[in-house]
Amino acid sequence: MRDAEPHPVRLADYRPPAWLVDTVHLDISLHPTATRVISRLALRRNPKGDATAPVLLDGDGLTLVRLAVDGTPLAGGAYEASPQALILRHPPSDRFTLEVETLVDPTANTQLMGLYRSRDNYCTQCEPEGFRRITYFPDRSDVLAVYTVRVEASRAEAPVLLSNGNLERSGPIPDTDRHYAIWHDPWPKPSYLFALVGGNLSKVPDHFVTASGRPVDLGIYVEPGKEARATYAMDALKRSMRWDEKVFGREYDLDVFNIVAVSDFNMGAMENKGLNIFNDKYVLASPETATDTDYAGIESVIAHEYFHNWSGNRVTCRDWFQLCLKEGLTVFRDQEFSSDERSRPVKRISDVRTLKAAQFTEDAGPLSHPVRPESYHEINNFYTATVYEKGAEVVRMLKTLLGDEDFRAGMDLYYARHDGDAATIEDFLAAFAEASGRDLSQFALWYSQAGTPRVSAQGQFDPAARTYRLDIRQETPPTPAQPEKKPVVLPLAIGLIGPDGQDLPLTLDDGRNLPRHVIEVTQAEQSFVFTGIDARPVLSLNRGFSAPINLSTNLADADLVFLAAHDRDPFNRFDALQGLAFRILKAGAASGTLPDAAPLIEAARLLLADSTLDPAFKAQALAIPGENEIAREIGSNVDPDAVFTARRALKRQLATALGTELEEAYAALAAPPPYSPGAAAAGRRALRNLALDYLTSGGAPEAIARAKAQFMAADNMTDRFAALAVLVQHDTPERAEALDDFYRRFVTDPLVIDKWLSLQAQIPEAGTLERVKDLTLLPVFSMANPNRVRALIGAFATANPTQFHRPDGAGHDFLVDVVLGLDAKNPQVAARMLSAFKTFRQLEPLRRASAERALRRVAATPGLSADVTDIATRSLS
Ligand code: ARG
Ligand code: ZN
Repeated sequence: MRDAEPHPVRLADYRPPAWLVDTVHLDISLHPTATRVISRLALRRNPKGDATAPVLLDGDGLTLVRLAVDGTPLAGGAYEASPQALILRHPPSDRFTLEVETLVDPTANTQLMGLYRSRDNYCTQCEPEGFRRITYFPDRSDVLAVYTVRVEASRAEAPVLLSNGNLERSGPIPDTDRHYAIWHDPWPKPSYLFALVGGNLSKVPDHFVTASGRPVDLGIYVEPGKEARATYAMDALKRSMRWDEKVFGREYDLDVFNIVAVSDFNMGAMENKGLNIFNDKYVLASPETATDTDYAGIESVIAHEYFHNWSGNRVTCRDWFQLCLKEGLTVFRDQEFSSDERSRPVKRISDVRTLKAAQFTEDAGPLSHPVRPESYHEINNFYTATVYEKGAEVVRMLKTLLGDEDFRAGMDLYYARHDGDAATIEDFLAAFAEASGRDLSQFALWYSQAGTPRVSAQGQFDPAARTYRLDIRQETPPTPAQPEKKPVVLPLAIGLIGPDGQDLPLTLDDGRNLPRHVIEVTQAEQSFVFTGIDARPVLSLNRGFSAPINLSTNLADADLVFLAAHDRDPFNRFDALQGLAFRILKAGAASGTLPDAAPLIEAARLLLADSTLDPAFKAQALAIPGENEIAREIGSNVDPDAVFTARRALKRQLATALGTELEEAYAALAAPPPYSPGAAAAGRRALRNLALDYLTSGGAPEAIARAKAQFMAADNMTDRFAALAVLVQHDTPERAEALDDFYRRFVTDPLVIDKWLSLQAQIPEAGTLERVKDLTLLPVFSMANPNRVRALIGAFATANPTQFHRPDGAGHDFLVDVVLGLDAKNPQVAARMLSAFKTFRQLEPLRRASAERALRRVAATPGLSADVTDIATRSLS
């Protein structure tokens, strides 16, 4: 465990590396507790670096065995070595070979960074700073080298040996029980893209031929027995490869592309060159074990990691401040892929829901930071919704501003110019500025300025002048270390809808034209006057959520009902309904009684009845905002119990008012077997299960019985899980029976048990904290496995606001105990769990004080990791 560094790393302090590495030869002999790593580095002084700097290699917990320079062993006084660094103050020349032998213990590696074991397999995770836990190296993303890797292991223990690139040779090692494989990756890469796998794994093979005719061997490696569960992931991989050729002109560039699924993984997956390593949650699926949401998640993560081969690997990041350069862009690319493969509007709605739930909340609290931060204490804490999801929104805005053609030209120029480079956000923007001829200097603020802009739009129809005037103001609230904000560029897609429900032609009074029906706001206050308007139109602004902002308008409830029924932009139809729900829920939570919900009910009824609409879209539009979303809209002095009560009351009102329609939907949407994970069938299930949820919300015995019947009869996990999720909301014998049944069915399937843990952690009842504590004692739970921890503890802390924020503080105390216990073993996951406090300042005073006490208890604990110290310190600042 590392202690918190006293000084942050700063973007402004970036210096080019003093030494470069041209080639790396690794010889890795796998052993459970003493893996031997011999590394031969061809080092060369960087002509663009400090000409007098010593050779400084990073390490983390390494044991040095032997050191040689140009083949000659180095004597003790010739270098300085510690577990954290290896320094040669007097290199023999400006170009030499350094050979380093180290020992590492993969079994003791509970951080899951570097070389570790998952079940009995060996695997690696090197991004961002894990390679230094395998061998001494200039472990920074701007040192690119060509790797050749020889790996050997016991044949019985690790029949499969994989690394990056193409396989050169493999075979037995005579007179031993060991064997070896040599892998060579011709593409220079930074150390964070190195990967190695050894274990007893089954290969699911397939084949792909790229557009220009290169044959590629595809393999997905899974635990023996799980092969059938990898077929969907393989299908998603081939579709991703084709899509990147078609949409971005990017082809695959090696003879082999392998994916390995492991059970212990800190994040979702990792794009190591030619050897992606995945959390098995994002590979394994079968109709009986995975929900439609799981299938969609697999499709998008498989695509995401594959797309990194260009956006991340061929063009990588100069330093970790540029993380959004690869992550924001790659999230944008995987979102576009899923939109093309499924329904674009539904994908957009669900992405915006995620953005608001994860990023807007982050941006509104003490952990707010720019898409490109300017300093950090622990880079692992910056794999955030802001870097990923807001980073993707910024790329999307660029496309909206530039239009499809110039956007693609900018992408092509970026790749052409920086292929093989470690690039920056400035490089990225310069390519688009050049390709489009536009000045993007103000746009660049989206990368440096934190916070979600608040935008107000006031529309005024003038019948005499036949004009519609739109006054826009923008303001970005202060965030940590950024008290003053500048106006940003807002591309706002707009429609003015006439009384007949049709969009009016848009003509501005000053002759400015409106390419693609987008107004560009660049100032703090700006007005737009549309001419030739004959009757009062209804404003539809920020269509498709074209800018990631908090928008308020002077639209009346009746206007929102109109938009919900008539807007040709599906996102804003959805948003109009959500807007109506928010108005009711906020007032209800504040006063204890719900105001009249008639306008919302009316709009929902029309939408439900509209047979031209996709069921998946209806399911999104009719799902009322969650408790966290409501809390975010309220913004301050939030009482989670009041939010919960208001939400439950509204849900019941809607269920009562729309009972007949919901019954009809439930009956009509039953899908005939067999199960198919496709978007159309998934959409029907989503709407049917939403209907089930509404119809059961009052807790009537017949309704509970129906949910139980669906649970028992389901032939797929989507329907079984949806029924269970409904049942756990009600304290009935059926709940206990169903939970029991589910456990017995799936006790040997950890990914399914995660669903069971997670649902119980979300029960909004006083007994839940005790239940969660009891669940941690079960053999199916383990604090050492990140998926288990996220499923149980993460769900409790982030998806059960009434119980996590219990007024007696017991929920807060529990989380702190978990975090402190976990920190010594896996600081990354511990820090993630602790970040559940990121919204604590929006709570009412009693709960806010309890959360603050809990955070102070963490901060006051000696010997914490840098990860947890950083989150605790920033949360309290
Ligand atoms: N680059 C990976 C991705 O595709 C994330 C890896 C981050 N890992 C970590 N331990 N912080 O998103
Ligand atoms: Zn990524």
